[in-house]
Amino acid sequence: MSHAPSPGFTATPFAGKTYGVTITGLTKQFGRSTVLHDINLEVKPGEIYCIMGPSGSGKTVLLKHIAGLERATRGEVRIGEYDAADPETRNQVHLALVFQAGALFNSLSVYDNLALYPREHRQCNEAGIRERVMNALSILSLEKAARKFPSELSGGMKKRVAIARALVMEPQILLYDEPTSELDPVMSATISEIIATLRQQTAVTSIVVSHDRDLALSIADRITIMMDGRIRATGVPADFKNPSDTAIANFLNPVIDLKNPRFKQLENSHE
Ligand SMILES: Nc1ncnc2c1ncn2[C@@H]1O[C@H](COP(=O)(O)OP(=O)(O)OP(=O)(O)O)[C@@H](O)[C@H]1O
Ligand SMILES: [Mg+2]
Repeated sequence: MSHAPSPGFTATPFAGKTYGVTITGLTKQFGRSTVLHDINLEVKPGEIYCIMGPSGSGKTVLLKHIAGLERATRGEVRIGEYDAADPETRNQVHLALVFQAGALFNSLSVYDNLALYPREHRQCNEAGIRERVMNALSILSLEKAARKFPSELSGGMKKRVAIARALVMEPQILLYDEPTSELDPVMSATISEIIATLRQQTAVTSIVVSHDRDLALSIADRITIMMDGRIRATGVPADFKNPSDTAIANFLNPVIDLKNPRFKQLENSHE
């Protein structure tokens, strides 16, 4: 793996342009608790950038700032030349967020879940919508699930439907929150392959929040590790194979210690 996007990365993005993300001095407080402390990072256009870190370290809050769903207490997030907090940015940049829990509408079929966004934004007629929805479903090998309802899907299928729904938005930036949580190792590997293939086919900038060490080490161009709302380290996957920082080593390769079990220490954690 290298810093640069992979050499196969020549396809044009869905909607004409690929954007990077620049975060400068981002601090977020909820009441008196500070959950992000002076975050600085730069995601290059077309990169697969993984954000890892323990539960409660601020990964989802950070992703929400990139998606324009949270307001910074201090600092800023820029998507290309646009301010992520400005609602107008959504008209300029196609950004899609694949939520941690999928966030599918249970009362709608898979097809209608995917059709919702283009229908609401009146982006094309029903025939055009159908083409976009079926194209996204076929990329994820989900054509046969079009008429199913979320309650009829396995966890892995729900994750794939959530990604397909993001694709219907023809994203230039794709944000994934825990795309492989609760999946078995084979399905996790499948999702990793999907994320890498989508980036190769569409040049989409992909920011992946994940605990999944295998995913990060195999498909990321760069990885950043967050702890307690701060960036602890950023590097290429090779930098994290045998980390010298013991906090990072303990996070990536935890040893089960029955003499000093972690659950006895949870009272002091930030979760
Ligand atoms: N809307 C909110 N109001 C108050 N505190 C919040 C809010 N959203 C998140 N937090 C707090 O911010 C901290 C970071 O939460 P976040 O959801 O970003 O963690 P995370 O790294 O995504 O964890 P996980 O891996 O479990 O998903 C937590 O302490 C959480 O309780
Ligand atoms: Mg989270």
